[in-house]
Amino acid sequence: MLSASSSHKTNEIAVSVRGLGLTYTTAIDRRPTLKARVKALGRGGKQTRTIRALDNVDLDVEYGQVLGVIGANGAGKSTLMRVIAGILPPSQGRIEVFGSVSTLLALGVGFNPSMSGRDNVFLGGLAAGMSREEIENNFAEIAEFSELGDAIDAPMRTYSSGMYARLAFSVAATVRPDILIVDEALSTGDAKFKEKSLNRIKELRSDDRALILVSHAMATLRDVCNDVVWIHKGKVIQRGEPNIVIDAYQEFLQVGKSAAIDEDV
Ligand SMILES: Nc1ncnc2c1ncn2[C@@H]1O[C@H](COP(=O)(O)OP(=O)(O)O)[C@@H](O)[C@H]1O
Ligand SMILES: [Mg+2]
Repeated sequence: MLSASSSHKTNEIAVSVRGLGLTYTTAIDRRPTLKARVKALGRGGKQTRTIRALDNVDLDVEYGQVLGVIGANGAGKSTLMRVIAGILPPSQGRIEVFGSVSTLLALGVGFNPSMSGRDNVFLGGLAAGMSREEIENNFAEIAEFSELGDAIDAPMRTYSSGMYARLAFSVAATVRPDILIVDEALSTGDAKFKEKSLNRIKELRSDDRALILVSHAMATLRDVCNDVVWIHKGKVIQRGEPNIVIDAYQEFLQVGKSAAIDEDV
């Protein structure tokens, strides 16, 4: 088995986030007509809209922690993961990562769809800092875990989202990084693969590893995590013992529902 890990101890900081802010700037019209574009040029530029996805976030993740990240859609969870993974530079604040990071982000990141699953494993492994030999030594395990069979040699554009997710999970979980980020990938795939992935996550729990799991599967998070953080509208609402934070979040969801019903009356 490959281990990208150097030596870390429980309670040592793996990720430190201070005063983190992230603002997306997007064009207002995603598909402007030629006429609108000419007009915009005439005005000296594009019309833009800004979205404050993260606002003054402070967060430490320690080695030995299995941190669940919860919150409504659009809360900023994936943005936070992308910043920790170094894919997005912060607009404000500071982020420090002490160790190797492997990320299993939302589908569509990291793979080249015109290449086969096999070639993508090599490409992804090299990008993650593995040598060709290390990848070769781990390829059989990755392919077997993915359950793709002969499809491993088919172009990834022919894969279903489930096949895609299975390969992505297999790669990320085989690299055995110091810090593993899994964004929603535990809820894809069939029940059997979900269980297998969950078991792998449990195996990866270790004093010298930090796991960060973004998920809507509250029962799973209660089961595997030893810490949970709740994000809402780009801010940390609560952080702590999984049952306490998840109970608070679920109560908040219930209140939201009844408030919506009251408004209807
Ligand atoms: N690439 C992007 N460009 C512009 N806005 C984005 C982009 N990605 C996310 N957002 C916006 O940022 C906010 C947080 O999104 P995201 O981090 O994906 O939340 P979550 O993962 O919690 O659902 C949302 O309002 C979302 O619409
Ligand atoms: Mg997300």
